[in-house]
Amino acid sequence: MFPHSRPRRLRLHSNLRRMVQETRLSINDLIYPLFITPGKQVKKAIASLPGQYHWSVDRLEAEIHEVVRLGIPAVLLFGLTTEKDPHGSSSYADKGCVQQAIRKIKAMAPNLMVITDLCLCSYTEHGHCGSLHQAGQITTVDNDATLKTLAKIAVSHAKAGADLVAPSGMIDGMIGAMRTALDHAGFEHTGIFSYSVKYASSFYGPFREAADCTPQAGDRKSYQMDPANAREALREAELDVAEGADMLMVKPALAYLDIIQSLKQNFDLPVAAYNVSGEYAMVKAAAEKGWINEQAVVMESLLAMKRAGADLIITYWAKDAARWLTELSL
Ligand code: PBG
Repeated sequence: MFPHSRPRRLRLHSNLRRMVQETRLSINDLIYPLFITPGKQVKKAIASLPGQYHWSVDRLEAEIHEVVRLGIPAVLLFGLTTEKDPHGSSSYADKGCVQQAIRKIKAMAPNLMVITDLCLCSYTEHGHCGSLHQAGQITTVDNDATLKTLAKIAVSHAKAGADLVAPSGMIDGMIGAMRTALDHAGFEHTGIFSYSVKYASSFYGPFREAADCTPQAGDRKSYQMDPANAREALREAELDVAEGADMLMVKPALAYLDIIQSLKQNFDLPVAAYNVSGEYAMVKAAAEKGWINEQAVVMESLLAMKRAGADLIITYWAKDAARWLTELSL
């Protein structure tokens, strides 16, 4: 009790604070997303995500060298296409830009882990995360038809050399379908990084511009989760674990720290947090106005995700955070 106990004693010196820190952020925690586009000589700024670009495969080299130089262990690839159709069939083209990017990156930097986002919304002309059908009055993603497409994309990415495939469509049975397809095709070493708990969130706005994947009609509420639900998150994660997922993800991050914590407490697989586009854009906009200190707010936010239980963080700030962490440790 006070006055014997004074928690402030341990806060007096900076080195003492450093010694008693419970949570630490490390470059090892970071995963950097990259947007790959068809075409040649493209490095096009994404207006809604300042500092992020659309890259054509032939322009990737310097960016990959930089990621490796900074010590970031993994990239997460998103693909765009010029050939959209109702089923998103360009997603599994062997010569698709993501497949080419995987080959290029693995040839350049074999140790850099290449994770691929596996979703159809950038490849379908309607912008939903799979083929559509009518369920009574409602037009929604045809779950079981979409599983077949996801299995094909997984195999095409694995064939190109992806280390982990990350299905983000919240399709029931996606992990099992992909695991079976990968194993049948001889890719038993390719991991599955599941977007297990993905909410139907308004924080994805800037990304939809970046990935050209805004639904042309309706929303994603008939497949992504209701932000009101926490117990359902455990059910989703449990199914993914049973179907063979290697890692779990919660998305978005900051408004869902309770979900990160609960996954960490309930499962023994690595848990990742996706620090999404809306979280990035808000900080960028406020920093541009001079209302907040970007570096301080970002490092505090990333640390909070780790404190909640995230083992890994997917963030558009990965390169900046790696630089800041290096500077802080000097
Ligand atoms: C594709 C996908 C989305 C994001 C990642 N994969 C958008 C969505 O579900 O609408 C969002 C990423 C971000 O906002 O940074 N399904």
